[in-house]
Amino acid sequence: MQFFLDTANVKEIYEANSFGILDGVTTNPSLVVKEGRSFTEMLQEICKIVDGPISAEVVSVEADAMVKEGRELAKIHKNIVVKCPLIPEGIKATKRLSAEGIRVNVTLCFSPTQALLAAKAGAWCVSPFIGRLDDVSSDGMALIRQIVTIYENYDYKTLVLVASVRHPQHVVESALAGGHICTMPYGVFQALFKHPLTDAGLKRFLEDWKAKGQQ
Ligand code: E4P
Repeated sequence: MQFFLDTANVKEIYEANSFGILDGVTTNPSLVVKEGRSFTEMLQEICKIVDGPISAEVVSVEADAMVKEGRELAKIHKNIVVKCPLIPEGIKATKRLSAEGIRVNVTLCFSPTQALLAAKAGAWCVSPFIGRLDDVSSDGMALIRQIVTIYENYDYKTLVLVASVRHPQHVVESALAGGHICTMPYGVFQALFKHPLTDAGLKRFLEDWKAKGQQ
């Protein structure tokens, strides 16, 4: 499973990348504006830090404009993946950008039929938002299982990028369901490392070692 960081914060990306296990980054308009800086400069900087797919979202809602915006974003760096929303115009734009060899992440996916549309349009990946489904009393993880099964049934190459991840158990369940990529906030990434028994076990080992005067 690939791990992506879901943030536009360069400091968090540096930190997460220092472990050598970060595969990519996803941003969205809300995350970008939070940082209060130029989108292009931010993307250039992120692409210098992480050598992997970096998702950058279009903000137009009409296919011609999305394609134009997508082409501009793709010019910034070879690792940019253009994010298009899962609306009818977004599917048209996905088909056109994909035909030009530009990778597209179809975002804001909340149903299996939407995921089918993204695959049929040739998307590089689809982003089902599981946390936001859980928030409205739906089963986000069930959607991941459905999409993985559907894509396998028809051998679609579109990757399932599990998004809107809220806690480590989402990561575990995504891996069990066969999600290809999991994008997570920095806090969730940090939580993946933690177990109290690891800390207690290490403390004991080091104390025993020291007590016997070992060097
Ligand atoms: C995905 O690419 C989105 O940026 C993200 O996962 C949305 O997560 P949220 O529901 O926590 O805002």
